[in-house]
Amino acid sequence: MFEALKSQVEKILSQEENVDTRLQLVCDLLREGVNYYDWVGFYFRNGDKEELKLGPYAGEPTDHTIIPFGKGICGQVAVSNENFVVPDVAAQDNYIACSITVKSEIVIPLLKNGENIGQIDIDSNTPDPFSEEDERFLEFVNEKVAQIL
Ligand code: SME
Repeated sequence: MFEALKSQVEKILSQEENVDTRLQLVCDLLREGVNYYDWVGFYFRNGDKEELKLGPYAGEPTDHTIIPFGKGICGQVAVSNENFVVPDVAAQDNYIACSITVKSEIVIPLLKNGENIGQIDIDSNTPDPFSEEDERFLEFVNEKVAQIL
């Protein structure tokens, strides 16, 4: 599954569309292509501010369009530069709930020239669905996205 998705991601990112359109298509592809990916979105650092701003996403609209560094899973990844896999969101103290249906989450930092400039965030309504394969796949997605930014 991930191998087929990887080549589709590369194809989308090589299109002659603006960046947001291509990122939107990637979000749509991932949400449709992986049955336990229920919300897929990109957050990026908001200028020089110590906060994240929501970019393209697929899934239910969220109120959390701005997330301060350090807050929630996303805000923690903005400062840790590390993947964050959450098998059970209910077990996290520093978590921002977007929807009561969400059971688990994975956030992978997006690095450009070694700098943490954003992240891909995936919410799942399935408990504990993410494996190292998801991490490797999403790292691949972010590496390819970084090349068009
Ligand atoms: N749950 C995230 C907030 C973003 S929403 O999932 C879209 C967090 O704790 O940072």
